[in-house]
Amino acid sequence: MANLRTQVGIIGAGPAGLALAHLLHLQGIESVVLERHTREYVETRVRAGVLEQGTVDILCGSGVGERLKREGLQHEGVELRFDGKGHRIDFQELVGKSITVYAQQEVVKDLIAARLGYGVPIYFEAEAIRIEDYQDNPKIYYLRDSQNHEIACDFIAGCDGFHGICRPAVPEGQLQIHERHYPFAWLGILAHVPPASHELIYTYHERGFSLLSMRSPEVSRLYLQCVPDEDIEKWPDDRIWEELRTRMATREGFVLKDGPIFQKGITPMRSFVATPMQFGKLFLLGDAAHIVPPTGAKGLNLAVADVRVLTRGLVEFYKHRNRELLSQFTERCLRRVWKCQRFSWWMTSMLHRFPQEDSFSHNIHHAELDYVTSSRAASTSLAENYVGLPFDTPGLF
Ligand code: APR
Ligand code: PHB
Repeated sequence: MANLRTQVGIIGAGPAGLALAHLLHLQGIESVVLERHTREYVETRVRAGVLEQGTVDILCGSGVGERLKREGLQHEGVELRFDGKGHRIDFQELVGKSITVYAQQEVVKDLIAARLGYGVPIYFEAEAIRIEDYQDNPKIYYLRDSQNHEIACDFIAGCDGFHGICRPAVPEGQLQIHERHYPFAWLGILAHVPPASHELIYTYHERGFSLLSMRSPEVSRLYLQCVPDEDIEKWPDDRIWEELRTRMATREGFVLKDGPIFQKGITPMRSFVATPMQFGKLFLLGDAAHIVPPTGAKGLNLAVADVRVLTRGLVEFYKHRNRELLSQFTERCLRRVWKCQRFSWWMTSMLHRFPQEDSFSHNIHHAELDYVTSSRAASTSLAENYVGLPFDTPGLF
């Protein structure tokens, strides 16, 4: 059994784990990153792709933003579409900020390349199987090449996502779960066709929600609302394009060209928060602690926001032996987590058709969309949430 010792044991090489390892490295704080999948798997896993201004600033400020700046698509606004008419929310004009469309797996690739670039390993195909004694002398036990290994560390960062081992390691009763399940899901596609719009289009339609997004000037990313247990076999390509065209149609004759679909998948919709996010020397970050429905494009950005809070706390601890910020980890993260949960729930409620919706609810959807797109105050509120609320603590970048 090979034993390792480090300052921070990080479980998971998703955006949370990799961003944390990187920011800590820049502050001279050592870490070991365990990832149960292969490098290729985490670098090709299709996930979302909208970065808040604050996330872009952290990635660029920490030296992993070169490709992001070159290949990321900066958007100054977004369109809300309903009743066959589009309404643009102008982020620049309303809040002086923008978003960047840059796929999550590209962020993951950049962070992995950076870490391997400064010669610090990431243990891929290393599955953490147990964590222990995280109140005093934290230990992580993991399996690699069918060998058992152990890491002794000062702190454990549970960045192992929703299905990881860290949150379930917290004894029953110590964790409170706050959640909302939605009676629908998203059928998402990637297609080799230039995006039919240079900005994202969120559409409310009586047949259900749809979203036009993109990955590059050649690759479109589109989603449509479906039932939670949708059988993707029942969605041949031409049916998907036809449904997207129906939902996104406008009076001006919006044209949605189709193209070869090279990826198809169903994304479940849930809102989930586990509290607290700290148990002694164990910290839960990102999807390990909270899940947002993708309508508000907050998942990855919230993971990076948690990383920012923990990094500041660990810097304070290792530089000044001051545990104050670390002890406020949950409180500092949850302020932003719940605001993003509210925004994501609100966007989801406003833009999706709920089963058995009566005419009253249908008209409330319309009134909400009409208000948001005709009131400067309401569209400013949407804009400031969408581009990313300001961080309420001074950052490292
Ligand atoms: N041992 C090692 N690695 C593990 C283990 C384990 N026991 N369990 C899970 N992992 C790894 C997963 O394989 C995954 O690569 O932890 C990583 C968790 O990464 P994410 O699920 O991407 O979670 P996070 O880093 O918090 O990023 C949140 O990801 O899912 C999107 O929309 C979400 O954008 C959000 C972002
Ligand atoms: C995406 O590009 O995948 C995307 C964009 C916006 C969302 C969700 C997903 O709200």
